[in-house]
Amino acid sequence: MAAQVIPVENFDLVIIGGTGDLAKRKILPGLYRRMCAGQMPEDARIIAAARTDISQSEYIAMVKKSLEDFVKSKKRNEKKIAEFLKRISYIKLDALGTEGWKELAGSLRKDVIHAFYFSVGPSLFAPLAERLLKYKITDDKTRIVVEKPFGRDLESAKALNEELAHSFHEDQIFRIDHYLGKETVQNLMALRFANALFEPLWNSMHIDHVQITVAESLGVEGRGAYYDKSGAIRDMVQNHLMQLLCLTAMEPPAVFDAASVRDEKLKVIKALEPIQDDDVIRGQYRADGKGTSYPDESGNPDTTTESYIAMKVILSNWRWVGTPFYLRTGKKLRNRMSEIAIIFKDPPHSIFKDSNDLKGNVLTIRLQPDEGVNLSMTIKEPGPGGMRLTEVPLDMTFAEALGDDETGIPDAYERLIMDVIRGDQTLFMRGDEVEAAWAWVDPIIKQWAENPTKPAGYDAGSNGPDDSLMLLHKDGRRWREITL
Ligand code: BG6
Repeated sequence: MAAQVIPVENFDLVIIGGTGDLAKRKILPGLYRRMCAGQMPEDARIIAAARTDISQSEYIAMVKKSLEDFVKSKKRNEKKIAEFLKRISYIKLDALGTEGWKELAGSLRKDVIHAFYFSVGPSLFAPLAERLLKYKITDDKTRIVVEKPFGRDLESAKALNEELAHSFHEDQIFRIDHYLGKETVQNLMALRFANALFEPLWNSMHIDHVQITVAESLGVEGRGAYYDKSGAIRDMVQNHLMQLLCLTAMEPPAVFDAASVRDEKLKVIKALEPIQDDDVIRGQYRADGKGTSYPDESGNPDTTTESYIAMKVILSNWRWVGTPFYLRTGKKLRNRMSEIAIIFKDPPHSIFKDSNDLKGNVLTIRLQPDEGVNLSMTIKEPGPGGMRLTEVPLDMTFAEALGDDETGIPDAYERLIMDVIRGDQTLFMRGDEVEAAWAWVDPIIKQWAENPTKPAGYDAGSNGPDDSLMLLHKDGRRWREITL
């Protein structure tokens, strides 16, 4: 089943922070793949800008290397790479000064979309936005893309929103949460709103609880200094897990457009109950004998930052009252596995006398690895010998369903960048949404800051701290396995 590729309008995309890690790992390889898929107009151009003092040819060599490193070999093609590199130019730019700005202004074409990807730290967002305005680089078709972290609390997020609003309208600001670009995350909306099967059951009458897991097997690697100031709550919960929760819990929007979808997500965040202290478990990984511990990796032996968090979240609205959402995320866990699991209620009565413990169905939306949807069903065990029941999975793996498509499933970033060019904000966070998420998360962080305690230890490669088991045990439930 080959995916349909609709080319976007012609564009000049400026990557500010063009020598950075995100540009090398995600943005440039993603753009290359979109070009190969036929989605980029023939003369769409990429202008990379950064502080680094390198020549055009040195930058091109760097891009070539990042394509070698981050594009699968079967998708690399010398001719296509040469074609891609021709589209790229490099400008030395000082985000806080004057150098490079006139050159940047002069290098942009009229009558094409201008998108500026701020692939830099949030402290540079406002100075960059101001300079774009000052050097008259912007027009109504201009878009800016900003990366997370969008602030570190409600106050800083508000300040950032206000600063950006001096230079841009809300419909020009694309706040990225790359989880929204993941294939399965969007499929969650298709599953819910394009099929009549699930929506009548999608409520607390039929759903016992929901588990949202984003487990990572890697540690904080080289990002210890950043991560130690953020912890799992700022790095993952306020944004990625919150978005997954919103898409799972929201009401059907009247139409699938940016305003309607984001209005519904905002209502979910506003319906979140303040979190109870004993409904949050924090953890920190210990060394597993072979590796290093979180305090080693963060370079802070006394750190009280969590590398794992599990929480029970309650939504106070008609649809969800009585159905808790359990969220967990952590680094150095058993496997890299992310999923949303909808655990339906058990059948109310068993007519099968030998099987009085019938289990509820579980609908699993798997984000990674092996993106897909799985529904566990109870059927009769095949063969003679009475009515014995067994559970089987009804499995739909998107990777397989789209397997013969030459371009495969696009990476979240490449999909989102194309949405920026199209001007489609459905999969981006609106300013009020980000603020509402911080407003919910802030009191939790404040409470930890006022009563600092060391998070519970867990072994690297495990399922997380034992205390997190209790979070569900006390409600008579258990976590799903973190398996591949
Ligand atoms: C990032 C976080 O936003 O998401 C990282 O800062 C995390 O700490 C990453 O590892 C996870 O993304 P993915 O797509 O690999 O699940």
